[in-house]
Amino acid sequence: MTFRVGLLGHGTVGSAFHELLEERAGRIEAATGQRPEVSGVLTRSRGDFDDIVERSDLIVELIGGVEPARDYILRAMAAGRHVVTANKAVLSQHGEEIYDAARKAVVQLRFEAAVGGVVPVIRVIHETLAAAHIERVHGIVNGTTNFILTEMAATGASYEEALEQAQALGYAEADPTEDVSGRDAAAKMAIIGRLAFNLPVHLDQVPYEGIEHLTPGDIEYARELGLSLKLVGTAERLDGGISVRVHPTFLYGAHPLASVNGSFNAVTIESPAITEITLSGPGAGGSQTASAVLGDVISAIIPPPTVPPPAEEQPFVTDTESAFYLHLEVADRPGVLAQIAEILGLQGVSVKSVVQKGLGDDARLDMVLHTSSAGWSSSGRLRAGYG
Ligand SMILES: NC(=O)c1ccc[n+]([C@@H]2O[C@H](COP(=O)([O-])OP(=O)(O)OC[C@H]3O[C@@H](n4cnc5c(N)ncnc54)[C@H](OP(=O)(O)O)[C@@H]3O)[C@@H](O)[C@H]2O)c1
Repeated sequence: MTFRVGLLGHGTVGSAFHELLEERAGRIEAATGQRPEVSGVLTRSRGDFDDIVERSDLIVELIGGVEPARDYILRAMAAGRHVVTANKAVLSQHGEEIYDAARKAVVQLRFEAAVGGVVPVIRVIHETLAAAHIERVHGIVNGTTNFILTEMAATGASYEEALEQAQALGYAEADPTEDVSGRDAAAKMAIIGRLAFNLPVHLDQVPYEGIEHLTPGDIEYARELGLSLKLVGTAERLDGGISVRVHPTFLYGAHPLASVNGSFNAVTIESPAITEITLSGPGAGGSQTASAVLGDVISAIIPPPTVPPPAEEQPFVTDTESAFYLHLEVADRPGVLAQIAEILGLQGVSVKSVVQKGLGDDARLDMVLHTSSAGWSSSGRLRAGYG
């Protein structure tokens, strides 16, 4: 059976989604009994919206921006089509209208890729934590600004230099205003706040401040205090209401978001029932975002599976490589260390570092070995593997 997917937009994410869907169609059919197939593509220069809707079971909106995306989403749902979108702009400004329309039309609306790229923030807040009373969400939800701040911290570059580097590597657009002003992060936090607290949150209600005015000095002072500087979005319950906001924030070293670097995104969800959960991963990129969009399409084809699909046969790899830690207690006599090194050498293992401590007549040797086959661990001679 075929499941027909109408695709609106064929840019960075749309074309990656199209390719991924074709590549994965066979597996999806094996798991769901339905083979997804792109039934039509709409861009500025090709395709007809009404015709595509007519020939589709589900519409994937990857145009971006508010109009005509909002109009297309509403019309697709009114025609009884499920909708999957990655569009934070439209959901943060017209979310209530769109959610109402989905409820009225009794269709699914899925939007995992609108926040955090492939990091499953929406699903976890909306589904996994549906019963939890969420108190607070902190998020690094813009990869461009996180890349720039990471670059400034690592190299001492100015904001302008780090932005240039981000643009050269494709992490920032030619016009980076939405990202560096904090507005993109604010839109994502509005969507998160809506789901976390079940209250309408419009982008206009989210104050935001960007990173354009930050200097290498700010980052250096933070480092001297053991802090790191990140653009953090916060959605939290406070006495008398909720607050959703985005601004540069000093984080103490042990904070789960402090070590999130480069273009990665991460979200920390706090609730008395679960204490704290942190999710992190690539927050953007065509193929990464396409993977989240396809995940939504599969969820729309069949209700989320409660048991895994039939297993596929594949060999188990037991001979994995790893570096190892070796702890030995030996007689403190000349030549012992040389003998150990020889035995290890015969096994094809070399020592990366070694620390020796006296234990009366004996000595304790703690070694870190270079990468070798983990088959070793089964012999019982090595105490622990890492790396
Ligand atoms: N890029 C990312 O890494 C990323 C990550 C997360 C979420 N998203 C979201 O994914 C969505 C798509 O982003 P993108 O980066 O793929 O955008 P993009 O590369 O600019 O592609 C936009 C596509 O929409 C089409 N389009 C624009 N206006 C249209 C109109 N009026 N009618 C019909 N088609 C129109 C464009 O057509 P033409 O080809 O004719 O120009 C193009 O194919 C956005 O909502 C974005 O926020 C993107």
